Amino acid sequence: MSTKIENIAVFTSGGDSPGMNAAIRAVVRTGIFHNLNVYGINRGYDGMVNGDIFPMDAKSVANIIQRGGTILKTARSEEFRTYEGRKKAFEQLQRHGIQGLVAIGGDGTFTGASKFIEEFDIPVMGLPGTIDNDLQGTDFTIGYDTAINTVVNAVDKIRDTAESHDRLFIIEVMGRDSGLIALRSGIGTGAEAILIPESITDYAAMMDKLEHGRKDKSSKIVLVAEGEEEGGAFVIGERVKEKFPHYDVRVSVLGHIQRGGTPTCMDRVLASRLGVAAVEGLLQGRRGEMVGLIHDHIHHTPFKDAIKHIGSITPSLLKIVDILS
Ligand code: F6P
Repeated sequence: MSTKIENIAVFTSGGDSPGMNAAIRAVVRTGIFHNLNVYGINRGYDGMVNGDIFPMDAKSVANIIQRGGTILKTARSEEFRTYEGRKKAFEQLQRHGIQGLVAIGGDGTFTGASKFIEEFDIPVMGLPGTIDNDLQGTDFTIGYDTAINTVVNAVDKIRDTAESHDRLFIIEVMGRDSGLIALRSGIGTGAEAILIPESITDYAAMMDKLEHGRKDKSSKIVLVAEGEEEGGAFVIGERVKEKFPHYDVRVSVLGHIQRGGTPTCMDRVLASRLGVAAVEGLLQGRRGEMVGLIHDHIHHTPFKDAIKHIGSITPSLLKIVDILS
């Protein structure tokens, strides 16, 4: 599609993340700054398929930069996975004259967007909105900083009670396919060990650490990413109890608390910068790319590369957990 873009739409999709509202605000206000008409789509691809599309103005994104969640709601759409669903979505966009899209989400969102571009020749730019930080092409995703700070706050509190009772806590954090939340918050809380899906050796290393590690520590914290292969925090808790009956073991699953809350300043600024870059990218004729920040510079990464998370764990970070605990 080579016509000059006058009407764009923004939507959020997949799991929400703190900072999505700041990103929506940035997209809407940048669009208005460049004299575009900006539409919002409710509930991601589901709303697109069903025509839940409405005009937005500068006022409609007032007072949201500090709010967690997403004012546009989000969903995982089954219908959009089908060709018929995508065709319906395209027809809804045509009805509103929409010529470009900004998609805020993670790998599922970008996989859907790639297919959509291929089949219907519509420009889509992406913003990395996920707490998991599991996208290539950006140092950090929108929501990750807030999520790890939420985890650190929670684990600090657990550490207080663990220390008082001389207990060992196994704490499960989010990350279905990625251990990046566990890794960074593990360093930030002085965890004894972390278990993440990217490393197949850390379960044995943890057991070894519990057996031969420092004996002078009264509390111990093990952070487990939910996607870890041994079976989750409760299974690991049982195994630790069996092997080390002298430990007073407790298990805590932090859950969706990690997805909510006020975004940190880092997430607000990241979302604002990327929102501006996504709209300006559309205006420059870009499509099919995620906008990210690497070493404080804007980068454009094709969707197919952005969704390749494999191998992005820095081994030196794993080593730090080991050296410092
Ligand atoms: O947002 C990503 C994520 O937090 C994953 O780490 C987690 O597995 C998933 O969302 C859970 O999402 P839901 O409960 O919405 O299915």
